[in-house]
Amino acid sequence: MKRRTRIFRRAGLLAAFLLLPFLVLQAKAQTIPVETAHNALVLQVTQGKNVNMIYYGKKLSSPGEYVQITGEYRQTQDYTGMYNAAYTPSGSRNLLEPAITVTHADGNNSLALKYVSHQVKQVSKGVSLLSVQLKDPVYDFEVTLYYKSYFKEDVIEQWSVIEHHEKGNVELHKFASANLCLKGKSYWLRQFHGDWAREMQPEVSELTHGIKTLDTKLGTRADLFQPPVFMVSLNQPSTEDEGEVLYGALEWSGNFRFDLEVDPQNNLRIIAGMNNYASTYSLKPGEEFKTPPFITVLSSKGKGEASRQLQDWARKYQLMDGESSRLTLLNNWESTFFDFDENKLKALIKDTRKLGVDLFLLDDGWFGNKYPRNSDHAGLGDWQANKKKLPDGVFSLVKEATKDSVKFGIWIEPEMVNPKSELYHQHPDWIIKQPARPEYYFRNQLVLDMSNPKVQDFVYHIVDNLLTKNPGLTYFKWDCNSVIYNAHSSYLGNQSHLYIDYVRGLYKVLDRIRKKYPHIPMMLCSGGGGRVDYGALKYFTEFWPSDNTDPLERIFIQWEYSYFYPAIATSNHVTAWGKQPLKFRTDVAMMGKLGFDIDISHLNDKDLQFCRKAVKTYDSFKNIVWHGDQYRLADPFTNDVASVMYVDKTKSSGVVFSYLVNNRFGKGSKLPIRFKGLDASKKYRIEEINLYPGTKSTLKANQVFSGDFLMQIGFNPDVNAQRTSVVLKLEEVK
Ligand code: GLA
Repeated sequence: MKRRTRIFRRAGLLAAFLLLPFLVLQAKAQTIPVETAHNALVLQVTQGKNVNMIYYGKKLSSPGEYVQITGEYRQTQDYTGMYNAAYTPSGSRNLLEPAITVTHADGNNSLALKYVSHQVKQVSKGVSLLSVQLKDPVYDFEVTLYYKSYFKEDVIEQWSVIEHHEKGNVELHKFASANLCLKGKSYWLRQFHGDWAREMQPEVSELTHGIKTLDTKLGTRADLFQPPVFMVSLNQPSTEDEGEVLYGALEWSGNFRFDLEVDPQNNLRIIAGMNNYASTYSLKPGEEFKTPPFITVLSSKGKGEASRQLQDWARKYQLMDGESSRLTLLNNWESTFFDFDENKLKALIKDTRKLGVDLFLLDDGWFGNKYPRNSDHAGLGDWQANKKKLPDGVFSLVKEATKDSVKFGIWIEPEMVNPKSELYHQHPDWIIKQPARPEYYFRNQLVLDMSNPKVQDFVYHIVDNLLTKNPGLTYFKWDCNSVIYNAHSSYLGNQSHLYIDYVRGLYKVLDRIRKKYPHIPMMLCSGGGGRVDYGALKYFTEFWPSDNTDPLERIFIQWEYSYFYPAIATSNHVTAWGKQPLKFRTDVAMMGKLGFDIDISHLNDKDLQFCRKAVKTYDSFKNIVWHGDQYRLADPFTNDVASVMYVDKTKSSGVVFSYLVNNRFGKGSKLPIRFKGLDASKKYRIEEINLYPGTKSTLKANQVFSGDFLMQIGFNPDVNAQRTSVVLKLEEVK
């Protein structure tokens, strides 16, 4: 008996010994860190199999220590058991804002999500994907959380996939992409609001306990009042170079919702995703519901570093052709509006060549016959060239441009329809409107129902027909000028799917276009910046930030966009807006992708000479602006002189733009502006460029400084009422 006990004991010890590595692994697997170059997002599986987010911040040098966080870091009593859930369910123990709310097939409203397993996959060099499977112990209902991390760029994309195998449909009432939990003493939100021609106006406030929601319900043109981006600083508002700051952005071109909740234990919970407003989604058994990725980038060195990381990420991984080139252009919108004919356009094509830009962009007004597009009251939907204005069609213009070595681009607004159009009469069922209510118009138009596959096909063929019938057509400006009123689809059986299926339909069309035309440049426009988001920018090479091209306003608007989007994506045009001189207007437009929207034939000799030279000058440094690092040196909101700098990745050349933005009391740059991003040990020659003909720089020629000097002491560009805008070129002297 004794012997047998000994044998059993020994066998038990042996088994325990053999199992040890497994047990250790199991214990380790309870903490799941997602690490990037500087940060870590750490998940932890509790004994009760809940998955929590226990940390998101600067990474520890020893990842083994994350496991200690629970005890030391979170000495809080969690009444809800859910303060830091990685994906907060509702209807059981949780009493805080949920990430997901459902009604099961049997009508029950409760959900619990327990850890099942997780995997890490290396997607490519520097990119890995963590997936965490969660399951309800009572219902056959699963959620998989995804965390895609971009090591070098410190970016993490998060989304969820929801699936079930219940006996009928499950109603999804809320379905976030991400559910974050951060810890700080205080939280400072920088949010943005706007309207037509007033995009990206920042507001900073301290978050108080409770929930702050940023959202939109406009459907299309979703960002008109609020873009899907924000930043939160921890402990104090961060500056360009100091402070811990988290940026958030959603890859979705429709209704979004961000809930920022400071909970009773002072955690900041961020729940972000598509807006669930009027969008309860009925999910069939076996069907996958994938939420759009929510992007975060975190920096402990202020807003500047965070935005450079995000810009790098965008160029490399998200923005269509972010690492390649762009076309400079002449647009006819502001010089002709709807009033043009073939001859006028042919003259503009000649002007394009004269100016020296790459492409002529024909804007709105070229289509519609029964209902000609002579104003914004008619024609949308009828995408045939207007026979009166263009008797030989679009192709004769493309041919003319090709003959002049100019590329040709065209404006479309394919998701829209005017009641004064043939399309409106032929396909009333393709239009989003309430069957028994009066129609409401936004810019005299209605929105087509992109959830309908027939409409998707129609929209695809607008692009495809133009490209196949007009070989040589090289560029599209894709506009979207109306919000969705009277949200109702004659195609959908379930009306609460409309907002989501609209965007999914749009993406299907864009996917199809990109499959056939992978590299055709396309500008994303929505009556200005009514639709700028990283979901759309996967398909678009650039966006139109605002119809407001007054350069003074643009300095502010571009400044705010630049936190989130790289300059290569920002289309800036020189127009007649504002009271600033032509040089000022051109300098501002050069801080992104340069274009012109002025009547070249009305320019005097000097102005024309200036513009032509400016295009050449821009060509000489555009790669620094497009692919280099951006440093916001002097904020227009708090300085009389605003200043922005771009430095190439090897730190051997740079461009600095400075502008007088406040002219009270004859202010100007009395003090040097400190440069950033240079190599302290290198020497740089500074030269003023883009001068207006006949003017001389007031700066000494051939000045050479060390990077150290320029960053510690700075350089005065001598901006004043006589020199309201100054562009400096820095070149390394070897
Ligand atoms: C929108 C765009 C403009 C222009 C017009 C044409 O407002 O933002 O740039 O294309 O449409 O109607």
